This record gives sequence, structure tokens and C-alpha cells, in this order.
Amino acid sequence: MFKIAVLVSGGGTNLQAIIDNIENRNLDCKISCVIADRDCFSLERAGKHNIPKFLLDRKKLKENLSVEIDKILSSDEHGADYIVLAGYLSILSKDFIEKWNKRIINIHPSLLPKFGGKGMYGLKVHKAVIEAGEKESGCTIHFVDSGVDTGEIIANEKVPVLSTDTAEILQKRVLEKEHSLLIKGIKILLNK
Ligand code: GRF
Repeated sequence: MFKIAVLVSGGGTNLQAIIDNIENRNLDCKISCVIADRDCFSLERAGKHNIPKFLLDRKKLKENLSVEIDKILSSDEHGADYIVLAGYLSILSKDFIEKWNKRIINIHPSLLPKFGGKGMYGLKVHKAVIEAGEKESGCTIHFVDSGVDTGEIIANEKVPVLSTDTAEILQKRVLEKEHSLLIKGIKILLNK
């Protein structure tokens, strides 16, 4: 059975979707560990389901963050075949990305290549979509390469943008789609 590691920085609703789909046997893999780059609610979710969890403080580790993540993910106990970035905000080093080439996927809350890149995260993405007058938005799952949100696209899911939308409302609509898209993306990855 394939093992995946999930990297997180936030509330972890995407992590929860993975946990739920594994528990209800819709997803055939195991989470070898959850790694957070800051203290966040995702760690509580992992703990509740007895999944090994690590807090690697990005502010303390700085450029060594990717090295420490790699140590965990290359270990016998917590090693993984694939890495899923589920709301993970730190940049991974070039060496790390080269080593894990085509084995890291990310979910982004826009229709890439639009509204991606440095600084495009959280509500900022949805604000930019509304300000640009877009009629549709969505989410994208893609391989991670050495750019920010530039790797090969695996799949996307669209949602309408309504004239009454605030960034918060649009974020909620997109996030609901992310959960099913992420499961679809992981299945594609595991069946490659
Ligand atoms: C999601 O919108 C994800 O696409 C983005 O960060 C958000 C994280 O949500 N990268 P959650 O922590 O999974 O609830």
C-alpha cells in the first residue's frame, strides 16, 4: 500500500478530506505522517486520528526546513512514497523538489495558471479573482516544480463567480470543491 505524507500550514480541511476518504475506504493508501511548518489546527486533526505528526517551525529552521522534512520522509518509520501539500505555505528547496520530482502534488485555490505565484494564497487569491471581474474560478491540483504554482497540471474543478460574491464567500465555494478534487488527484497519482 502506498504511503503519503501530508504537509500543512492551516486549518486542515483538505487533510480531513484525505483522512475521511481513507477511513471510508474510498482512498487506498496510508498517511505516514503529517508535517506542519507552524502550529495549526491540522496537527490536532492528525492527533485525533493517531497519525504521526511533526511541527517543524519554519521561523527557527529557516533554510534547513526542507532538509528536516526530507529526513522524516526518508526514514523507515515515517517515510512516504508521495507528498501532498494541503494548504502548505512554505517554499520547498530546489534540492528537495529535485529529489522528490513528480512525487509532490499541491492544491491551489484558483484555475492555474491564473492567480498563482508568489503571494497568491488564502483570501488574496479570491480578492484578485473578484477584482479582475472573472466569471469563473476554481481549484487546481498540480505537480510541484521549482517555480511557485507552475508545475504540470493534473486536474481542475470550476465554480461560478457571482456578482454578489465577497472573497470570503468565493473562498468557501472553492474550498468545498478542493476536497473532492484533492481525492481525485491523489487517486490519479497512486494509479500512475
Ligand atoms: C486551501 O484553499 C488550499 O488550496 C490553500 O490553502 C487552503 C487550506 O485549507 N493552499 P485547509 O487548511 O485545507 O482547510
